[in-house]
Amino acid sequence: MGRGLLSHALHTQIAMHGEYGGVVPELASRDHVQRVIPLVRQVMLEANVSLQQLDAIAYTQGPGLGGALLVGASVANALAYALDIPTIGIHHLEGHLLSPLLSDPAPEFPFVALLVSGGHTQLMRVNGVGQYELLGETVDDAAGEAFDKSAKLLGLGYPGGPALARLAALGRTGRYKLPRPMLHSGNLDFSFSGLKTAVLTLVRQSEPDEQTRADIAYATQEAIIDVLAHKARAALAQTGLTQLVVAGGVGANQLLRSRLSDDIGRRGGRVFYPDLEFCTDNGAMIAFAGALRLAQREGSKEYRFNVKPRWNLQEITS
Ligand code: KG4
Ligand code: ZN
Repeated sequence: MGRGLLSHALHTQIAMHGEYGGVVPELASRDHVQRVIPLVRQVMLEANVSLQQLDAIAYTQGPGLGGALLVGASVANALAYALDIPTIGIHHLEGHLLSPLLSDPAPEFPFVALLVSGGHTQLMRVNGVGQYELLGETVDDAAGEAFDKSAKLLGLGYPGGPALARLAALGRTGRYKLPRPMLHSGNLDFSFSGLKTAVLTLVRQSEPDEQTRADIAYATQEAIIDVLAHKARAALAQTGLTQLVVAGGVGANQLLRSRLSDDIGRRGGRVFYPDLEFCTDNGAMIAFAGALRLAQREGSKEYRFNVKPRWNLQEITS
């Protein structure tokens, strides 16, 4: 654990998914098969470490697409079997949750985490490694999904989040106001599915020109960020904690970052973000969570392909 992150590499499938307007599971896993060994070679070379020096191999055990998970699990288990070292299966969201600890300055336990990705929107109280308490979550679409679906309605490419954010930068304030569902629900849950319906209605009504599309993008981003910031503040108030950690792909959104830092900073709190490259999906956060987990519990030498496409974070809370 002492030496920190020695090297990391990423092959993004964004261009491939972009051609199809979204993820095609079979294509994703076939591409994984071709990429994973060269990537492993590359990081080992860059880190100047031999396979024989490894103590364990971490891999994403779930949740996610079964085929893609199986590629990682197979390679990790086969390599570990050959080297006679343990594997450690990591929950994808635990990787996101702990990723801000890779940055300097890092938060200290306990903290509140706002997990905002393409598949999840959750507020968690994080007391330590493996100690996660769910405070609230979306009852329908995830925040990333709201970005992606609205972007699609506005004719933008994949992934929609960054594209919508870019278009929103050209939008004007005050022209449209979109709903903020559950803003005053009194709990820490979210709902985003109504937003895409509202965007659809606007798009259909106005046959939008470029400026109108930018104004709609602006209002969409505002609505999502407003709800996220409001609930994150409420989570800090409810728990009495002062540190907020933002993780997951939507955490790369610059406006969300500045809004949260302003809002929470003004109230005496502090917001921590993973470096941008560790915000969206990456292998370093899985390796890092694996190292923290190994300090707590032993890895496995059973070498089984027990991936979990559906896997609740609560199940790994100790
Ligand atoms: O964590 P992540 O990389 O993958 C999942 O585990 O889902 O998150 C992907 C999500 C997508 O919905 C993408 O549109 C969104 O994060 N995203 C953004 C931005 N960058 C990525 N949303 C808003 N603004 C961004 N700059
Ligand atoms: Zn993710």
